[in-house]
Amino acid sequence: MAMKDAQPGTIHLKDYEAPRYLIDKTTLKVEIEQDKAKVYATLNMRRNPESDYSDNCSGNPLDSSLDSSLVLSGQQLSLEHIAINGASLTTEQYVVTEEELTIHQVPDQFELVTEVIIYPKQNTSLEGLYKSRTMYCTQCEAEGFRRITYYLDRPDVMSEFTTTIIADQSECPVLLANGNPIGSGKVGDGRHWATWHDPFRKPAYLFAMVAGDLSVVEDQFTTCSGRIVDIRLYVEPKDKDKCGHAIQSLKHAMTWDEQVYGREYDLDLFMIVAVDDFNMGAMENKGLNIFNTSCVLAHPETTTDAGFQRVEAVVAHEYFHNWSGNRVTCRDWFQLSLKEGFTVFRDAEFSADMGSRTVKRVEDINLLRTVQFAEDAGPTAHPVQPASYMEISNFYTVTIYEKGAEVVRMIHTLLGPELFRQGSDLYFSRHDGQAVTIEDFVAAMAEVSGRDFSQFMNWYRQAGTPRLSVRSEYDEKAQQYRLHFKQSCEVTKLEEGKQQQGKQKNPYQIPVKVGLVTEQGDLAFSASDEKNPREKSQVIEITEPEQTVVFEGIETCPVPSLLRGFSAPVKLDYPYSREELALLMSHDSDGVNRWDASQQLAIQLMQSLMEDYRASKPLVMDDCLSQAYAKILSESADDRAMQALVLTLPSELLLAEISDEIDVEAIHQVRRFLCGQLGSILSDQWRDTYHANISTGSYIHNASEVAQRSLKNLALRYLANAKTEDSLALVQSQFDEADNMTDRLAALSTLVNDPRPEAAVLAMQALESFFNDWHHEPLVLNQWFQVQAACSLPGGLSRVKALMEHSTFDLHNPNKVRSVIGVFCNSNPVNFHCDGGEGYRFLADQVLALDKLNPQIAARLLTPLTRWRRFSEQKQALMKGELVRIMSEPKLSSDTYEIVSKSL
Ligand code: PHE
Ligand code: ZN
Repeated sequence: MAMKDAQPGTIHLKDYEAPRYLIDKTTLKVEIEQDKAKVYATLNMRRNPESDYSDNCSGNPLDSSLDSSLVLSGQQLSLEHIAINGASLTTEQYVVTEEELTIHQVPDQFELVTEVIIYPKQNTSLEGLYKSRTMYCTQCEAEGFRRITYYLDRPDVMSEFTTTIIADQSECPVLLANGNPIGSGKVGDGRHWATWHDPFRKPAYLFAMVAGDLSVVEDQFTTCSGRIVDIRLYVEPKDKDKCGHAIQSLKHAMTWDEQVYGREYDLDLFMIVAVDDFNMGAMENKGLNIFNTSCVLAHPETTTDAGFQRVEAVVAHEYFHNWSGNRVTCRDWFQLSLKEGFTVFRDAEFSADMGSRTVKRVEDINLLRTVQFAEDAGPTAHPVQPASYMEISNFYTVTIYEKGAEVVRMIHTLLGPELFRQGSDLYFSRHDGQAVTIEDFVAAMAEVSGRDFSQFMNWYRQAGTPRLSVRSEYDEKAQQYRLHFKQSCEVTKLEEGKQQQGKQKNPYQIPVKVGLVTEQGDLAFSASDEKNPREKSQVIEITEPEQTVVFEGIETCPVPSLLRGFSAPVKLDYPYSREELALLMSHDSDGVNRWDASQQLAIQLMQSLMEDYRASKPLVMDDCLSQAYAKILSESADDRAMQALVLTLPSELLLAEISDEIDVEAIHQVRRFLCGQLGSILSDQWRDTYHANISTGSYIHNASEVAQRSLKNLALRYLANAKTEDSLALVQSQFDEADNMTDRLAALSTLVNDPRPEAAVLAMQALESFFNDWHHEPLVLNQWFQVQAACSLPGGLSRVKALMEHSTFDLHNPNKVRSVIGVFCNSNPVNFHCDGGEGYRFLADQVLALDKLNPQIAARLLTPLTRWRRFSEQKQALMKGELVRIMSEPKLSSDTYEIVSKSL
């Protein structure tokens, strides 16, 4: 049996070894031809003096024979020629397998030259060099460079790159690579060349090149030290009018990083290329970012407000990587969150500063609670710093990214902004040009603050979401208020079986920001273990499994506002009454907790309605929520963003996540019932809100207009849910008259989800006219697909199958796959989980088809099936059956194999 058919191996953090060889210089020449590309690589290599292996310190004489062999990674390469120091190697001097090239003996210092042939047009995995529409482009993170040439493809091998691209001038007039252009010319036969040099040493995962027929939009930025940086955004000619927002966002990000982190851009040129076929959102290649079109192009007519905000956030995220990721990079892939968690924290703060801080925080909390907590509770749970993996591509997760960012945020909360900045300055200066670990980052923070982070490291090393239970006690005579904290964290599925079952994890250090709220607002107080007297908000550090905090001089019994700003990524449990939640909703000075109180109130109500639904009792509305909503709606309209947040019911996904056993149907019916009731009880107020928030001018993208549109479209949805007579006309006229995609799409989706028969006719017509208007714009088509794939009315599966038959659908394009299959399986639970399990069978079929084309996308798509343990026994059996069917496929990719095997 060949190795490839065997199970993929597991790689462990504890086995990390420094590289045995280094590559000082990397010189590439890539010749793009009609049906192939030739890659010539010249690598200036030497033994790594830091490698233990070089000392042969083991004293074992057998090691010295191994000692001078060199193992390079390489996949799907056809080796044409290989030479060391100018002498060609004979086939006895090396061996090639599917994954590696081993040269039996190399000198201590040498020049290695290889020539390989690759096939970009046949590369459907979208890793390495591939063709997307009219351009050739690369994606090398995490291990894509090994599909371009034989290399030490690991982030702790950093090299100075010079890249020459040769291609047909009419097919590929634009030739780009990292760094600065240093030469170009013609080679005859209608072909031309360009050479680029990147002065910064970097790991191969940050390499990029692009060749294609692209238009460019240019701008400039003057850095804090007065250097002028050229900004170039390369897009397909038809997209030239969609570049302004990304460029503005980039300039804002460049300024923000100078002001908030003291980080200046370091090259004279910053390029972004937009590609339509891309596995992820975007990639921070040095000086040459490559973006999914969906994360860079924006225009009011084609892009929703959410789309504009995503562009701003992703442009900033990739830009921020220039320091947190590129100048200081990761030693190995177990440190992925070193760059990703930190950079997500940076981009979240940037977005908060650009728009509404509370809205941004609420969006992030929702993502964490619905998606990350679910991951932490499932079979693929892993620590922010994992201890092992089979396929690193599977670890670009919400845990690494979003929980990783929460962990950095907690460090920020514990240190405060000034010390945190000192820590980040120390980290960047100490490790500039190095490949380092999460421990190095934390050590810098520890050093500037004098704090001990040893217990804090549990956040990085333990998987799972801690639960924090809080109880309170008020002693009127002593004017004392006490909070009792109790923390716990269950052992996840993966850790079970290692004699760990039933065992608890080590306690975490949990920063809990607390306020005490009364009808009169926040109380000033001092907590027993805090030095700061009479504050309205304090960060209490919970470190013990159980801990009590006493507040002195408390004259009336307050309602506790816990975990303000969501100061730690935990599941909080406090026995709030409905009255207490209503009080927090209107009096808490912390916006996040005002919103959270509305969510908790709605959750309490929905959970009791779900019990009634399951007991086949009629659903009866309780006034507490409608009264609270009425109050919010009648308040002055100065914070519409906040109003829209507070008036939005918790999603079906969130309700699923907090259920013991997920009852998809009950969740859906109860939420629909509540939307309908709130819509009709408050219909006059919704109608007024709708009309009061219609914008008079033309579309502008700014925080207040975004808030106005979101409140208006929320009101429209409530009216439609209430099936008020006027709602159809309102929806239809908004659809017809909207001058922007936000309003048009809101109307379309409201119409498509309206169960009334008269709505169905209108929805059909609207979908058709939308398609006719936009079929030439892939990004708009994706939204057209998404609206239909998410439609929760009966018959979802056959609608989705029909969409996949549509001439514009393409299984090779990840955005299309996500828009149709991804949206259906993740955001349309009633249809995906329909009785009989046809949804599960459908997903498994798609995963198997995709596994042959693009394993990364296949493995990612699989997620909903891996959550089978959360459902009824009957659904469990059906879901598991499909996983078993996938598992029995003989040639699974390591990506899909890892996810399926861990799930079973
Ligand atoms: N490093 C990219 C980011 O988060 C994500 C990415 C990973 C893109 C792997 C492509 C491939 O900014
Ligand atoms: Zn990133």
